[in-house]
Amino acid sequence: MGKKEKTFQIIEKKIDSLLERMTIDEMIGQMTQVRHFDDISGDDIKTKLIGSVIHTQGPLPGLTATEWQAKVTDLQKQALSTRLGIPLLFGVDAVHGQNTFEGATIFPHNIGLGASANPGLVQQAAKITALETQATGFNWVFSPCVAIPYNEKWGRVYEAFSESTDITVELTRASVRGHQGDLRQSENVLATAKHFIGDGSTDFGVEGGNSSLSLDEVKIRLLPPYQAAVDEGVGAIMASFNKLDDISMHAHKALITDLLKGELKFDGIVVSDWKGYSRFGENDIINAGIDMVMAVDGDLEGFQNGLKEAVSSGVVPLTRIKDAVRRILRQKFRLGLFDNPFPDNKLIIKIGLKKHREVARQAVRESLVLLKNEDNILPLKRDAKIVLVGEFGDNSGLQSGGWTVNWQGTNENYRGATTILEGFRKISSVEVAFDKEGSGNDDADIAVIVVGETPYAEFFGDIGGEINAYQLTLTEIHQNYIDTYIKLGKKIIVVLVCGRPLVVTPQIKQSDAFVVAWLPGSEGHGIAEVLYGEHDFKGKLPHSWPKSVDDYNGKYGPNFWDDSIKPLFPLGFGLRYWES
Ligand code: BGC
Repeated sequence: MGKKEKTFQIIEKKIDSLLERMTIDEMIGQMTQVRHFDDISGDDIKTKLIGSVIHTQGPLPGLTATEWQAKVTDLQKQALSTRLGIPLLFGVDAVHGQNTFEGATIFPHNIGLGASANPGLVQQAAKITALETQATGFNWVFSPCVAIPYNEKWGRVYEAFSESTDITVELTRASVRGHQGDLRQSENVLATAKHFIGDGSTDFGVEGGNSSLSLDEVKIRLLPPYQAAVDEGVGAIMASFNKLDDISMHAHKALITDLLKGELKFDGIVVSDWKGYSRFGENDIINAGIDMVMAVDGDLEGFQNGLKEAVSSGVVPLTRIKDAVRRILRQKFRLGLFDNPFPDNKLIIKIGLKKHREVARQAVRESLVLLKNEDNILPLKRDAKIVLVGEFGDNSGLQSGGWTVNWQGTNENYRGATTILEGFRKISSVEVAFDKEGSGNDDADIAVIVVGETPYAEFFGDIGGEINAYQLTLTEIHQNYIDTYIKLGKKIIVVLVCGRPLVVTPQIKQSDAFVVAWLPGSEGHGIAEVLYGEHDFKGKLPHSWPKSVDDYNGKYGPNFWDDSIKPLFPLGFGLRYWES
């Protein structure tokens, strides 16, 4: 018997012995995940025998990492004081760095990492994210999102690496490896591959909508990243809000139990998404194979009582409950939580370290995609007279997208980050002017105009969905910045900050150079390093780039198997300064 198999056997025996002693309340408690504020009070962890705590939304006002660790320690002590003393899992949406903590290193969102297509870099980024996440007290991240977006109208395109299954598979593997490493080390965390399955391929790109892909298409195009995650030993997989063929994924037994747990041999936790129990069929979701429920926003009592009743009336078999609890305990043992339940305070000083930020800056550099460079206007000379234009040029919140500091992101600067302008000023040997409002600065020779999408996260970034806040083209204001500088007769370099390909065909024509920066995160300096030629461009488009708004409907529509739509730039396109 190999070492791995032996460790597995030892853990399974420990689980057997715990399961034999557990009451139904204790088992259902393990299956419960709650939010630490709003949803619980006082000694709920102890009395409701909770198995996991989630943190979402953003930093709690004023909490330092030391205070966060103390908070986690306090909740953990409550769990340990229960009859069986089973420790808690603490989960957080750290999806591009520990983005709920101001001062942490924030990496480019996954779409940018997809452009880098560099698995070694993705692994390093995940490892740093894991460490900084543990430093704030959490041992579980809800990342990576391994969706394969087939419609840019979906407001979560940037959370995923690429429209290419192959790129996604490779980077998923790297991400899970980086986050989890040797799980018993205090700086590693459990990872979650999400959202299973079809989140990015709903019809019209609606978050939580229906996907009409056939099961074969799902298996060929969307499943391979999950197989890769499972092969890497991913601790958890989150069910998706969407439906497949009008069946809610949370209640899709054929896919969760038969396919994921059966055929793919996933032995970790299938966790529900937000309020999954009340939204997607209550006990049906447990029977379909959900092991842990995000019992938030008022779901706690309903879930615990509802499931208990369902077990006593035979609607949910006890064997299903035991399987769920076994999976949860298995991950707690793998993480070494029974031996080391508390956060490691030695990690705190490592949050936002220079060497972490250097990796993030490398990721920014490698994610940039050059679409046009007429007459080699780039790289810029250090003494070029430049004006940087637009509010995105000096705002770390705007350059970072959703899931940064707050759920929907922030339009403000945040601690520890460098803006694009700051990066320019570090490198240029002459003064770099800043024209925030795009009113026109005639002194400069070259205008570097930063335009893009203001931050959004799930639901709020859907186009044509219920909230409908966004468009796939530039805003009028951003278009005006470009027009103003064209009128002044300046050379124009456009830097696009975006979570998905936008229709910018006219603006590419208008400009001398065009750079896609995606959502770079805290290290804006990386953009200047490439634009000034300290490094070459390396990024390649992780999505094919549509020519017109109409292209979106055909790009992955019912005919997406044929290639009748010719994109403006194909997947993998990206210019370089020098031959490699
Ligand atoms: C999102 C998940 C996220 C969860 C917890 C949900 O609304 O779909 O991706 O992990 O919230 O914040």
